[in-house]
Amino acid sequence: MRVLVTGASGLLGLIGTAFSRVSGGLLKVDLTKNAEVRQLFEEHRPQVVIHCAAERRPDVVAQHPDGALTLNVDATSQLARCCKEYHAFLVYISTDYVFDGTSPPYDVDATPNPLNLYGKLKLRGEEALRAVGGNAVTLRVPVLYGDVEYPEESAVNILQKNVDNPDKPVNMDHVAIRYPTNVVDVARVCRDIAVLGVDKQQTLPPILHFSASEPMTKYDMCVDRPLNSALSVTGLTQLGIDAGHVPFRAWWRKHLSV
Ligand SMILES: NC(=O)c1ccc[n+]([C@@H]2O[C@H](COP(=O)([O-])OP(=O)(O)OC[C@H]3O[C@@H](n4cnc5c(N)ncnc54)[C@H](OP(=O)(O)O)[C@@H]3O)[C@@H](O)[C@H]2O)c1
Repeated sequence: MRVLVTGASGLLGLIGTAFSRVSGGLLKVDLTKNAEVRQLFEEHRPQVVIHCAAERRPDVVAQHPDGALTLNVDATSQLARCCKEYHAFLVYISTDYVFDGTSPPYDVDATPNPLNLYGKLKLRGEEALRAVGGNAVTLRVPVLYGDVEYPEESAVNILQKNVDNPDKPVNMDHVAIRYPTNVVDVARVCRDIAVLGVDKQQTLPPILHFSASEPMTKYDMCVDRPLNSALSVTGLTQLGIDAGHVPFRAWWRKHLSV
């Protein structure tokens, strides 16, 4: 199976294309340039595309709405069109921020109501997939953590800085409940979805949710973040995909003791 991962230099991506952090065999592609995207498909003919590339920092999206629109919506739409034309199966990584966090847990058919522009643009990316109408699945995931180049890559990993520097007081939100999910689990679920959709030619639901199940407050959340956007994983388990996950505390205990 030829798999292309966009945003592979990011927290979630592992192999594929990058933009500013091209290393270790990644291909440099600017997804906002239609000609570069088309060239990528022409040269590599992927059977599966895992679309991770996005501006995922809500504050940056709010400060640069035009750039975020171009990458999160327009580039997603163009990628979906290429996937359809070149017969590639598309998995679009979306977010629990499409929900307002007031009625958890959220099933895949729950009505989205994003609170901030980041959530709104990711939802518009989902809608772009539907408008194009190819063979595509949206996989919504909550806040992610895992091995990173630097702690700022993840809104969870960055909390480690506070642990490392207990003498410097910081303000923490102890209200919003999140479900931090390890990128290794998300990668495995993407693979399992691709196997069902491509190798087994199974017709899949247009939207799936994956989430770890350990609720915890995320200390650096702001007021426009959803209060509790638990994603129900029933759709995945009905497909026979393992929705088990890395236990949060055990993972951190191992990494903090290094
Ligand atoms: N991180 C989370 O907590 C979280 C939670 C829920 C959903 N998600 C979703 O999961 C996906 C992956 O998130 P992530 O945390 O891995 O993101 P990330 O670490 O911020 O990485 C973003 C990726 O997008 C690439 N990129 C940026 N501009 C580009 C452009 N013009 N053309 C091509 N690539 C470009 C970046 O490449 P360079 O770095 O090389 O420039 C990088 O590889 C996103 O769709 C996000 O919305 C993330």
